Amino acid sequence: MKISIKNSKEIEKMRVAGKLAAEVLEMITPYVTPGISTGELDKVCFNHIVNTQNAIPANVGYRGYEKTICSSINQVICHGIPDDNRILKEGDILNIDVTVIKDGWHGDTSKMFLVGKCAPHNERLVKITQECLYKGIEVVKPGAYLGDIGYAIQQHAEKNYYSVVEEYCGHGIGNVYHEEPQILHYGKEGKGIKIEEGMCFTIEPMINQGAKYCKTLKDGWTVETRDGRNSAQWEHTIAVQKNGAEILTKRSEEI
Ligand code: MF3
Ligand code: CO
Ligand code: CO
Repeated sequence: MKISIKNSKEIEKMRVAGKLAAEVLEMITPYVTPGISTGELDKVCFNHIVNTQNAIPANVGYRGYEKTICSSINQVICHGIPDDNRILKEGDILNIDVTVIKDGWHGDTSKMFLVGKCAPHNERLVKITQECLYKGIEVVKPGAYLGDIGYAIQQHAEKNYYSVVEEYCGHGIGNVYHEEPQILHYGKEGKGIKIEEGMCFTIEPMINQGAKYCKTLKDGWTVETRDGRNSAQWEHTIAVQKNGAEILTKRSEEI
């Protein structure tokens, strides 16, 4: 399959879906406190998407997944399953990843939460990982290469003595949740596919404090670091415009 190029009408629909996905993360923020379960956070997000946004939670039923959000805590890299028995505790770092479908179009985004007071090494991981996302976004423009994105992210991660998870990547997105191309979070400048105006894709680096290696738990979803050290992730959906990336899932706390 070729990479789809979206026209301005399609991008407008992506903008609507992206805004709704961003709003879910804004809406859930005050709920993220010590004592709440990830299962409860999931229910609040589901209800908001279905009843307030009149939209569809894309993860529900996706390849057999049953929840609205992925909730990935500490050493969980991604795809943590919300659970009524997993209670957030002070010092946890949590990623909430949500995808909303509106009018057939997808918006996919995630952010990190610091639960109460966190250790400085965790605060630093969360901050540097967000910088990795922004550095990846900054190099996006027509004529640049996908390898430039991975290079920018990997440079920043490794300069800070972190590693980049290689098994999971960003992806094209549109009226299909995961489509071509794959967006690697490591790589070499000038390599890979050339970026064109009208492409829409996610950038979603997963950055580890220790080694890059991961393992999937027996539930078939939860991905953890092999060495048990912590991992962080931030994700945006972007559209490639003439002058660079338009972030479709930007939250009001971002500049
Ligand atoms: N939202 C994830 C991504 O960034 C995918 C989650 S799939 C699920 O691509 F089934 F685990 F929800
Ligand atoms: Co994604
Ligand atoms: Co996502």
